[in-house]
Amino acid sequence: MSALLHPFAEPAKPESDFINIVSATGSMLTADDGKQYLDGMASLWYCQVGHGRTEIIDAVTAQMHQLEAYSIFDPFTNPRAREAADLIVSKSPHPDGRVFLGCSGSEAVDSALKLARLVQQRRGATDKQIIVRRTHGYHGTNVGGTSAQGIAPNREGWGDLLPHVMEIPNGNIEEASKLFAEHGDRIAAVISEPVQGAGGVHVPEDGYLEGLRRLCDQHDSLLIFDEVICGFGRTGSWFGAQTFGVTPDLMTFAKGVTSGYQPLSGVILSRRIADEISEPGFLLRTGYTYAGHPASCAAAVANIGIIESEGLVDRASHIGRKSVEGFDALVADGLLASYRGVAGVWAVEIGRDSAPVKAKMLEEGVIVRGMGENIIWCPPLVVTDDEIGRFIETLEKAISVS
Ligand SMILES: Cc1ncc(COP(=O)(O)O)c(C=O)c1O
Repeated sequence: MSALLHPFAEPAKPESDFINIVSATGSMLTADDGKQYLDGMASLWYCQVGHGRTEIIDAVTAQMHQLEAYSIFDPFTNPRAREAADLIVSKSPHPDGRVFLGCSGSEAVDSALKLARLVQQRRGATDKQIIVRRTHGYHGTNVGGTSAQGIAPNREGWGDLLPHVMEIPNGNIEEASKLFAEHGDRIAAVISEPVQGAGGVHVPEDGYLEGLRRLCDQHDSLLIFDEVICGFGRTGSWFGAQTFGVTPDLMTFAKGVTSGYQPLSGVILSRRIADEISEPGFLLRTGYTYAGHPASCAAAVANIGIIESEGLVDRASHIGRKSVEGFDALVADGLLASYRGVAGVWAVEIGRDSAPVKAKMLEEGVIVRGMGENIIWCPPLVVTDDEIGRFIETLEKAISVS
């Protein structure tokens, strides 16, 4: 048995049963047996600019030759960390905000939860500790994010998780209103993805995010958007907050910030929230060893440069239009029940278990995710029209024969 223990996998599965990816360019991957795959999931929803981009590789290499790594704990900083932070906030709805950096989406989520509670503690609202999560929400696998996620099987089997977490169902702002009416004086924050990703690609109902914003404002609670999937173009704007026109107090990002070339994540704090913790003499007692890692920050700067120069935020909307043309044709032929999503992230509803369809697509060289009765499509934002066409044709074939 191999020493490698895979995440979200059966530990008993032999290493030889895994697909061994050895190289990649654009939206195409190559396995060790020479088989090629279309990367219909941008790896794990993160590879916005496609694989093998020498601009990012060169930027990381140059940075590592100059300064491979150094901490940004007080009293140190480095130019790449500052540059990346300035660039990231400039694309966000908080251009005058601040950024707290980490490496993974899970670190960003747990940091956002801590920051939200910290702000309430510092306001003197010591009883405001409840985190409100949404059904189907996915917020990573650290203890905070495991507690705050609305996918029950992921929360089970670990013993007790965080106390003071409550759940609201999707799509019904009335339920959220009731929860706030009863517990609003103890709610620190609501955490929500703008579009729920790993929980099955659920786009918010009209007015839902606005409703959460209103309830948070009425009860002095904070709104956290987890933009780990939505950020950096996926929804057709730089951030989901902009696509849906709702501005959170704190927002997490990861994945698309570097397209995965180096691990980087963070929390954007609005200026108001940042000011609240900026009292002279107050020490922020939390942070990660690799925060502000120069190589990761160099990757972010180069990656954001590509997203900008190649117009990939608009390209995401184009991917949406092209995909929908294909989905509509399959619905008209009675092969698809329905579909949902926005710009670069979609779930198609096939009306039966998706596992055989996903397996057939993999055999045909197209990687998608199967979730219940849904097939998920979240390609690199550089995916070509021909590749979108190949995805639709393969989907049609797989539904027809499996
Ligand atoms: C919305 C969201 N939050 C947090 C995470 C966790 O990120 P990571 O796996 O980098 O810890 C993910 C990962 O898919 C995610 O989709």
